Amino acid sequence: MSALSAGSSKAEAAASSGFPSGFLWGTATSSYQIEGAVNEDGRGPSIWDRFAHTRGTISDHSNADTATDHYHLYREDVQLMKALGAKAYRFSIAWPRVFPEGAGTPNPKGLDFYNRLLDELSANGLEPFATLYHWDLPQALQDRFGGWTSRGTANAFADYAAYVAARLSDRVKHFFTINECSRHVHLGHGNGADAPGLKLSQSGLHQVRHNLALGHGLAVQAIRAHGRAETRVGPAENVVSCIPAIETPANIRAAEIATRELNAGYLTAIMEGKYTDAFLAQVGNDAPKYTAEDLRIISSPIDFIGLNVYTPDHYVVAADNEHGFTLAPFPASFPHMKPGWLRPGPEAIYWVPHHVARLWNVKSIYITENGTSGSDQPAADGKIYDVDRIMYLRSYLTQLQRATAEGVPVHGYFLWSLMDNFEWADGYEQRFGLYRVDFATKRRTPKLSASFYRETIARNAVA
Ligand code: NOJ
Repeated sequence: MSALSAGSSKAEAAASSGFPSGFLWGTATSSYQIEGAVNEDGRGPSIWDRFAHTRGTISDHSNADTATDHYHLYREDVQLMKALGAKAYRFSIAWPRVFPEGAGTPNPKGLDFYNRLLDELSANGLEPFATLYHWDLPQALQDRFGGWTSRGTANAFADYAAYVAARLSDRVKHFFTINECSRHVHLGHGNGADAPGLKLSQSGLHQVRHNLALGHGLAVQAIRAHGRAETRVGPAENVVSCIPAIETPANIRAAEIATRELNAGYLTAIMEGKYTDAFLAQVGNDAPKYTAEDLRIISSPIDFIGLNVYTPDHYVVAADNEHGFTLAPFPASFPHMKPGWLRPGPEAIYWVPHHVARLWNVKSIYITENGTSGSDQPAADGKIYDVDRIMYLRSYLTQLQRATAEGVPVHGYFLWSLMDNFEWADGYEQRFGLYRVDFATKRRTPKLSASFYRETIARNAVA
């Protein structure tokens, strides 16, 4: 081998282990999971306050009244991000801080918290990515309209989005509309495991999903109307992830078809402005009530797609049936991380962006969440050697790097989560943070995975 070709193959090897230059590294959180201060500065109650204070809903009988106390410790938390070398931060705005009644009179003191946070982020060189709705619906809207069972909530969401965009878009360039619509539908309104704890019929569920999609579309329009020319907006969705069981052209195509059909009630409708024939045939009389105008609103053009990627939902095999695919059942022996639901399937973070980009010619994708919880017990020397989390992150980031090296347009990655927080119905029993939080003292301590992530960011390559 000549010196020249040896040199260039070295360069290729370096390129193939790195991320594109300018790749945005960040961490993610959400308001109810970290802020606490639920009764401060005029915040109204959310459906999660009501739910968490209802007996039997949270496995450790906790709530997020104080959570990590980020509302008071946000300056310290910005320093935690800075210590990682992160360049971006995805957080959510608590709608009930801004509109305590969900609509009507705003509460400027509530928005002021985010003004303070944005100033702190900017002073520390961190770019804000704001989610408008991470499930903490003002309780007043649940009481008045039945929450997302009604279009009234979609309209109120648009008004709230307009208000926020008008006041924050001088500093926030990227907005996410709704976080994980699919989980909010199924756990919040289907099996009652999340707030608002409803157990609706199939037709009720399809209507809730449609109303959320409508809320997304109306919010996109409101942000365009009240933001700035440079404002960008998109969803942050836990797409049903479909992976070719074996990477043959036929299985890859089958997984792509499955991705379109298994996301037909939300993301496919957003991207295509219609419910697919197969979806309508499958839901039959349970189909949501909608108009052609609804579909035009739902498919308002977006600037990027945010993807929350944790676990593969399905391994897919090409088949000769009417759908063109078969979903392989998960064997009982399939491994899982600390939460039983979190099956490690690192190739999900390669295939989901790949399918999304190909199906809809998407030009910009962010991984808006990825991470795992762990037992995270301090060792004898007091340190937290969370090598299970490092194994998980390394394997996912290796697959993500494979995607970016092939030109899949993933522009950033937000690790869930900056620090341990209130993990919904699992209370404080599932710790997802790079920093351990002692919930009694609120003290934050870096885990070994924080060093792994810092090193990865510094190299712009998997450490
Ligand atoms: C997705 C949700 O958006 C987030 O709130 C949650 O904590 C993580 N998954 C982990 O379950």
